[in-house]
Amino acid sequence: MPLESVLTRIDNEMPKAIERLMELLRIPSISTDPAFKDDCQAAADWLVEDLKSIGVAAEKRQTPGHPMVVGHVKGPGPHLLFYGHYDVQPVDPLELWDAPPFEPALESTPTGQVIRGRGSADDKGQLMTFVEACRAWKAEHGELPCEITFFFEGEEESGSPSLVPFMKQYASELTSDIALICDTGLFESTVPAITTQLRGLLGEDFTVTGPNRDLHSGMYGGIAMNPIRVLTKILAGLHDDTGAVTLPGFYDAVPEVADEIRAQWQGLNFDHKSFLGNVGLHDPAGEHDRTPLEQIWSRPTCDVNGIWGGYTGDGFKTVLPSQASAKLSFRLVGQQDPDLIRESFRSYVESNLPAGFSIEYRTEKGAPASQMSIEDPAFEKARKALSDEWPRPAAYTGCGGSIPIAGYFRDLLGVNAMLIGFGKDDDQIHSPNEKYDLISFQKGTRSWARILDALSRT
Ligand code: BES
Ligand code: MN
Ligand code: MN
Repeated sequence: MPLESVLTRIDNEMPKAIERLMELLRIPSISTDPAFKDDCQAAADWLVEDLKSIGVAAEKRQTPGHPMVVGHVKGPGPHLLFYGHYDVQPVDPLELWDAPPFEPALESTPTGQVIRGRGSADDKGQLMTFVEACRAWKAEHGELPCEITFFFEGEEESGSPSLVPFMKQYASELTSDIALICDTGLFESTVPAITTQLRGLLGEDFTVTGPNRDLHSGMYGGIAMNPIRVLTKILAGLHDDTGAVTLPGFYDAVPEVADEIRAQWQGLNFDHKSFLGNVGLHDPAGEHDRTPLEQIWSRPTCDVNGIWGGYTGDGFKTVLPSQASAKLSFRLVGQQDPDLIRESFRSYVESNLPAGFSIEYRTEKGAPASQMSIEDPAFEKARKALSDEWPRPAAYTGCGGSIPIAGYFRDLLGVNAMLIGFGKDDDQIHSPNEKYDLISFQKGTRSWARILDALSRT
């Protein structure tokens, strides 16, 4: 059986695979900060060379932003496209890291060995699981079991500004029988997952301006309306006491979860007490009449991500500020249209502005939610392959995060995406001390070898 020797090779070559991942992790490819532009180029170059080393015809392709990496390799089975992102989140607050974020190291923890470092779980460690599976297969059998296109992006963490034009320009080259995306998590540490729905995302960033300058809070306090009071009242009014969002029309395009999916989710016995307990929380804060899994996977949200205004330095300053600002994010589901939600939000805000106040918005691009169809037999093949590798069978799950490219594969290329990843809830992605479990890396690599094998069989 061709698979067994590949799995053995993966296990035997783990130390070298870890060393390769560490090389990639040492490149500080932070896409949102222009100071790291050259490092994004370097990460793309590193991937091109690594793909070439396993016989993939790979190239760096420039975009107006950070480059893409595209590579092709022939094989007898169906044509798969594999997507991952080599860019990472900024590291701040740096003082909360126990070790430098771009000096990755293996570390022993009570639950096993981990690879610590920015990007280890999101997404460099994950994308390398697939590359390592291909490397082992190629070394064992001289060729890959399927035709594979590799597609790595360097702008995922900064809103993917170049992605849609790039996918349109290279549509025929990026079209395949199915797209594989490794940027999601396990359901639990022993339960692998195929994610079939992702939430969308809309960002709003705005400033309200009242008085034309900061005012003495004794001379003007009482008669002058304080912009922070206006802003906090607006923000406080976004949710009612049942946890629902109050914006008119907000729930119009929000579907109920299909009965069959609801039953599957119930079967997962999600332990929300420890999910919340692990981050120091107790009670779910979403809509009261929704289950915890619905609150994360299939219900839309509105959250304040940041709020600022007035004097925040040391000591005391009796001032009424001229301005107050906030950043919000909405997670979207079903057919919720980012543009309509933005309109509804803005008319709510403007109807709450006192006379003489003004508002200025700095909007982020939005992306709708996406739902994957699991009709394609590839899904059941992959689910079986995952179930063979892990202690417990694979589950179809949702995901609260957003991966806009999943929708672009469908809408721009007519290609269905299968999302399989091996991250854990405690990986601290986007946070200090990000890590990827060695088990995720090793069993993730083994899982892809099994999936390649399964998909190559008709
Ligand atoms: N890998 C994440 C998406 C994700 C988050 C998967 C949590 C599983 C669990 C991805 O890199 C990400 O961070 N996406 C952003 C959206 C993007 C448009 C900036 C997100 O969800 O905030
Ligand atoms: Mn990611
Ligand atoms: Mn991310």
